[in-house]
Amino acid sequence: MKIPSTIWTLLIGIVLTLVSLWFGTNHGLLPTAASEEASLVDGLFNAMMTVSIGIFLLVEGVLIYSVIKYRRRAGDNSDGPPVYGNVPLEILWTAIPALIVIGISVYSFDVYNEMGGFNPHAVHDAPITPQAMKMPGAAIAATLSDTPPSTEPNTNQEKAAEAMQDPATAEIRNSDQIPQLRNAPGVGSVAPTIGPTPGNEGKPPALVVNVTGLQYAWIFTYPETGVTTGEMHVPVGREVQLNIAANDVIHAFWVPEFRLKQDAIPGRQSELRFTPSKEGGYPLICAELCGPYHGAMRSQVVVQKPEEFQQWLQEQQVASNEDLKKAVAVNPAELSPSEFLTPYTHNMGIQPELLHQIHN
Ligand code: CUA
Repeated sequence: MKIPSTIWTLLIGIVLTLVSLWFGTNHGLLPTAASEEASLVDGLFNAMMTVSIGIFLLVEGVLIYSVIKYRRRAGDNSDGPPVYGNVPLEILWTAIPALIVIGISVYSFDVYNEMGGFNPHAVHDAPITPQAMKMPGAAIAATLSDTPPSTEPNTNQEKAAEAMQDPATAEIRNSDQIPQLRNAPGVGSVAPTIGPTPGNEGKPPALVVNVTGLQYAWIFTYPETGVTTGEMHVPVGREVQLNIAANDVIHAFWVPEFRLKQDAIPGRQSELRFTPSKEGGYPLICAELCGPYHGAMRSQVVVQKPEEFQQWLQEQQVASNEDLKKAVAVNPAELSPSEFLTPYTHNMGIQPELLHQIHN
């Protein structure tokens, strides 16, 4: 008995769908999900994976089938039949990918929105303060920029100024050396902000940490206690707000287990709010090529029980201020990079030998 081709097509379609759906959630490509935001990103990734696997199997399957079925047999020296375009088919296979791409863009837009990425308060807010206008680099920035200085309220500048004034961080953030760029309305540049975790809108975050990126280390300060460290500790299940700045060039704060990444930009404070959901130590990686030792610009985020976190904070309170004051005086005596970085190595968990190797 010959099975009709429609039945075959149906069966193959069902198998393809089942395999794609299974693989879309069992690919094992993502690391542990350790923040409440992570499930949103994983949902999007899995959906794209499902679609990609379906298309991959279909295209490769047809290819392999055709290569075998329509191969040249012995003694067959005839030409293949001339095949011309098929308009309905071309419309169909243009329309299907277009719909898939639109679907993914709407979905990713929604994920970004849920994570607080379209938080408009970063753009139109309070008017510019006299303090912000007197920022040391404003004049330099004005000459550097193609756009004439904007007269609109500039909350980026204000936020950056505020961050620089924060007594717990001022020394590290070293405001004198950072040109303060203005908003460029034509270009639409604004301070990058990822807002509250879903369900936390309108509530202040439980913990604020100032993050400063510099060549080639991450420095964390806890404004409430003045603690300064090279490794970030946060309590599990509490929303954290990071105020991110850079001292020299653009860096990017990236924790794959949180599925979150935010740029650290000189003179323009960026923000990231998230809720860690799983205890453990996760790598923090600089995700912006920032110089020859970019690859060594790594640290760790430790998510702890709230009690353990409080205990850690107390332990740090005495010790850390002292040694970082020495370390972060921003290379006063023309030290070589490895000499300059030595004081950070303990905090960053980097072996001195590794640093030496990189330098050579
Ligand atoms: Cu900092 Cu790469």
